Amino acid sequence: MARLELKNVIKNFGSVEVIKGVDLAIGDGEFVVIVGPSGCGKSTLLRLIAGLEEMTSGAILMDDERVDDVPAAKRELAMVFQSYALYPHMTVRKNLSFGLETMKVPKDEIESLITAAAETLQIGALLDRKPGQLSGGQCQRVAIGRAIVRNPKIFLFDEPLSNLDAELRTQMRIEINKLHQRLNATMIFVTHDQTEAMTLADRIVILNGGKVEQVGTPLELYNNPDNMFVGGFIGSPRMNFLPGVVLPETGDNTRIKLVGGNEIHTKLSSDSLPEGAKVTIGVRPESFVQVDANRALVTGEVQIAEHLGGETFVYVSLTNGDTITVGIKGQAKLVPGDEMHLAVAGSEFHIFGEDEKVIRHV
Ligand SMILES: Nc1ncnc2c1ncn2[C@@H]1O[C@H](COP(=O)(O)OP(=O)(O)O)[C@@H](O)[C@H]1O
Ligand SMILES: [Mg+2]
Repeated sequence: MARLELKNVIKNFGSVEVIKGVDLAIGDGEFVVIVGPSGCGKSTLLRLIAGLEEMTSGAILMDDERVDDVPAAKRELAMVFQSYALYPHMTVRKNLSFGLETMKVPKDEIESLITAAAETLQIGALLDRKPGQLSGGQCQRVAIGRAIVRNPKIFLFDEPLSNLDAELRTQMRIEINKLHQRLNATMIFVTHDQTEAMTLADRIVILNGGKVEQVGTPLELYNNPDNMFVGGFIGSPRMNFLPGVVLPETGDNTRIKLVGGNEIHTKLSSDSLPEGAKVTIGVRPESFVQVDANRALVTGEVQIAEHLGGETFVYVSLTNGDTITVGIKGQAKLVPGDEMHLAVAGSEFHIFGEDEKVIRHV
């Protein structure tokens, strides 16, 4: 187990800056998920931590010691890849023992490490098979087993579940969660999937274009996104963004006129929202409620209703041509063409400025 710290880490490939000054501190035993769209630099960041890639500048510290110059094999980290990267000609047992043998770990110790890992991951019956005789999920367990037997200070996972089908992915997610509880090890997990991030992480790091957008617990990010990127990335279906403009102040209230909708009245200082300022109101699908026409913030027509049983997602087109997503608990009796009058429950909305940064969570 170890703490990890990144200080202003920059990585260029040729003239292209891919990691643009990342600062991050990860605590002992913490499960941190780095999430962001494809190509944002997640794998590169993980490979820099692992020592598989050299930084352009910055510092990486483990337990306050700089490890920038420590070669990958000596960093006491173990990485699990999306592709599993198992040796196809070796049995599962050999795949697990091979790295330890090269490190000259005594035979009986290797044996007990393999037995313990096989028990943890329930792969005891597979030890004499070769990877070609395993399913994708079993291969991924072996790849995780190979990390466990090395008893690393930090586990690094690079999208380890992305090649699995949906059901298996959910199952492995739960197992990785349990594994973290049992081993209490520091784990850094990279994914493009916000659900994986929300369900696994103690803290989530949102990476976008090589920069950290925000760091926080899953619910901190859900409740208080710093900007529209984070608001849109965390939560499924996505947060709706409704354009609006600030009207002249009346009394204490700032009034925002929604394009294609009515007015929102809220208390804000006029410094942050001068008259005429363009803003975006972020509303999560599950924050809308159906109301009478005279209380509606927006009104629109149902295009599609997805009936999932436990909940209903409704795609509603507004008069200005925008489509919004509305999430309703349970089985809503709505069909295409129905009119919906919507307000925001308990004023659960976020106001973003023209620079896409949050002005206020309401
Ligand atoms: N070895 C490399 N040489 C040049 N560019 C690279 C190299 N590895 C990654 N990149 C580029 O760096 C960016 C980030 O890649 P990567 O870290 O793999 O993203 P992610 O894992 O988030 O999908 C991409 O634009 C990718 O093309
Ligand atoms: Mg990647």
